[in-house]
Amino acid sequence: MQTMIQKITLFLAFVLLHNHVVFASDPDPVLDYCVAIKESATSNPSCKNSSAVTVEDFIFSGIKTPGNYRQTGFASVAVNSNVFPGLNTLGMSFVRADFDVDGINVPHFHPRATETAFVLEGRIYSGFIDTSNRIFAKVIEKGEVMVFPRGVVHFQMNVGDKPATILGSFDSQNPGLQRLPTAIFGSGIKEELLEKVFGLSTKDIAKLRKRFAPH
Ligand SMILES: *[C@@H]1O[C@H](CO)[C@@H](O)[C@H](O)[C@H]1NC(C)=O
Repeated sequence: MQTMIQKITLFLAFVLLHNHVVFASDPDPVLDYCVAIKESATSNPSCKNSSAVTVEDFIFSGIKTPGNYRQTGFASVAVNSNVFPGLNTLGMSFVRADFDVDGINVPHFHPRATETAFVLEGRIYSGFIDTSNRIFAKVIEKGEVMVFPRGVVHFQMNVGDKPATILGSFDSQNPGLQRLPTAIFGSGIKEELLEKVFGLSTKDIAKLRKRFAPH
């Protein structure tokens, strides 16, 4: 028979393990802030000397205007800890995304964050696919928010007759971004494998590779 101590130990071990799995997220900060030293672009940057920290370290001005538009009629500016060192250790980040009429944000995912996307302007067909390949998609309007759970594939398309803008928040200082078309066709996977996966000719694959080459 288990002693009480053994039972408690088992219970604690279970709770710790469970918490570790379920509540995986950026680590909790141990300081009020740790403005990353830009020059040290490592995964664990050091903090700027706090006597040198100013209000400017906590302000990012790079999303007053859209980013550079891609061929898909989509422009985004990720406001993560790489471009905004004041976010370092704080467990959050942000994005501004703009769509031309008919513009699309190709299917992609963020490995380290859930995203809430707020429609600032426009009408956006917006959705995600869960790991059972079930789709949840609908046109959302100005003022609405959609959530994309961490790590699931999601996508957006401007279906309004004007340009559209969304603002997204992430529960990680560095959510990561992987676009499926580029991952598959722009990464140098052997042509033969892609031909077999998609049942396409060498010519078709070459075309797709050209189209989705990273830039
Ligand atoms: C931080 O800056 C202050 C003021 O310039 C200086 O006295 C101190 O030594 C610095 N601390 C570190 C760890 O460099």
